[in-house]
Amino acid sequence: MSLLVRNARVLLAFGSTPGAALRGRAMNDWPALDAADVLIDGAAVARVGRGLKAPRGATEIDAAGRVLMPGFVDCHTHACWAGDRLDEWELKRAGTPYLDILARGGGIMSTVRAVRAATPEQLAAALRARLGRMLALGSTTIEVKSGYGLSKAAEIKMLNAIAQAANGFAGTVVPTALLGHAIDADAPDAAAFVRQTIDDTLPAVSAAFPGIALDAYCEHGAWSLADCRDLFEAAMRRGHPVRVHADQFNSLGMIALNAQWAGAGRAARTIDHLEATRAADLAALAATPTIGVLLPCTGLHTDGRYANGRALVDAGGAAALATNVNPGTSPCHAMPMAIALAVRFNRLGPREAIAAATVNAAAALGLHDRGIVAPGARADLILLEHRDERVLAYEFGDNPVALVIVGGRIVKPSSECASAGC
Ligand code: NIG
Repeated sequence: MSLLVRNARVLLAFGSTPGAALRGRAMNDWPALDAADVLIDGAAVARVGRGLKAPRGATEIDAAGRVLMPGFVDCHTHACWAGDRLDEWELKRAGTPYLDILARGGGIMSTVRAVRAATPEQLAAALRARLGRMLALGSTTIEVKSGYGLSKAAEIKMLNAIAQAANGFAGTVVPTALLGHAIDADAPDAAAFVRQTIDDTLPAVSAAFPGIALDAYCEHGAWSLADCRDLFEAAMRRGHPVRVHADQFNSLGMIALNAQWAGAGRAARTIDHLEATRAADLAALAATPTIGVLLPCTGLHTDGRYANGRALVDAGGAAALATNVNPGTSPCHAMPMAIALAVRFNRLGPREAIAAATVNAAAALGLHDRGIVAPGARADLILLEHRDERVLAYEFGDNPVALVIVGGRIVKPSSECASAGC
């Protein structure tokens, strides 16, 4: 089955897949083509150019000069959860800090209790509904973390629920095992809980989900730097890529530890959050292959602090962008909102934010077949309502996505589809 989108402004129109994240100036200097056509054959892009002829039987869509770009890749989410945190939000609004709520056994732990009480089917149904909302907002690939189980059985239950929801989803779900999200406040001994996670939960997850990325929250009141090091080095020995929540409130030394790993050729794939990271550490991060993941919806909802994305990119680093949708720090499903905030608060330019939300976010998940519009790349594409992509960053609070194509199939039709027969 072929599909021809005619007369579009095509963003990130490369000749072939770049095979790595865009770094530094390249995050701004990527190619765009005006009045261009994109021919899709099956699940992949076949050709990008001007004046392309539609093969017999192809569906044709006239973009009328609007922006056609890669679907968003939401590379950091906690979209699988049960319960809600509305009462806790009232506490936060009255001035109680996030880490104080966690220290009292609430926050992440209150969602852990709700997830443990939920069935896999309930978790999968809640996640499925969230994935549908995110797809309509243009996210065609979505990472989903576990991390609200904390025990071996509950982490595996979450990962199975994520796989169940992924099954019926038109886009791609990439699971991450967030085994070190918190110290289980209900466990009798914190040190024993950490050892059990490393010696018992990790091997079981590794056997059931070989090669899955491993994640932890390096923060006071969560996992210490030494605990993270032990977990991650055990995970690396088992062949897992590593991602880490670091420097959200306090900088505990993860950037320096990662620089040592990078020197030994085993850098973390991503370091996420970075709100408390100093410019010198952002430069140190930029000197490694690790991608810095910016989460500006968290600053908006939590405490008005944002990572200095400008310093990371100016130092030659690679930034990716994500919603971080979760019930505690970021109740936002919308990548367009993350882009609008990244431009205002992480100090990226609109083109940099678009690269961060697509090609670099795909690289953050180890995927190099998407996030661009190139022959051979996966045909996960979105058509915007707008002719100028800067509007994506300029406007906020609306859905700018007119049409969504996943693997060459239209999954959210635009208004012109009725006459085009798609
Ligand atoms: O990335 N801070 C750690 N993890 C999430 C929040 C999870 C929660 O509060 O439920 C984050 O912000």
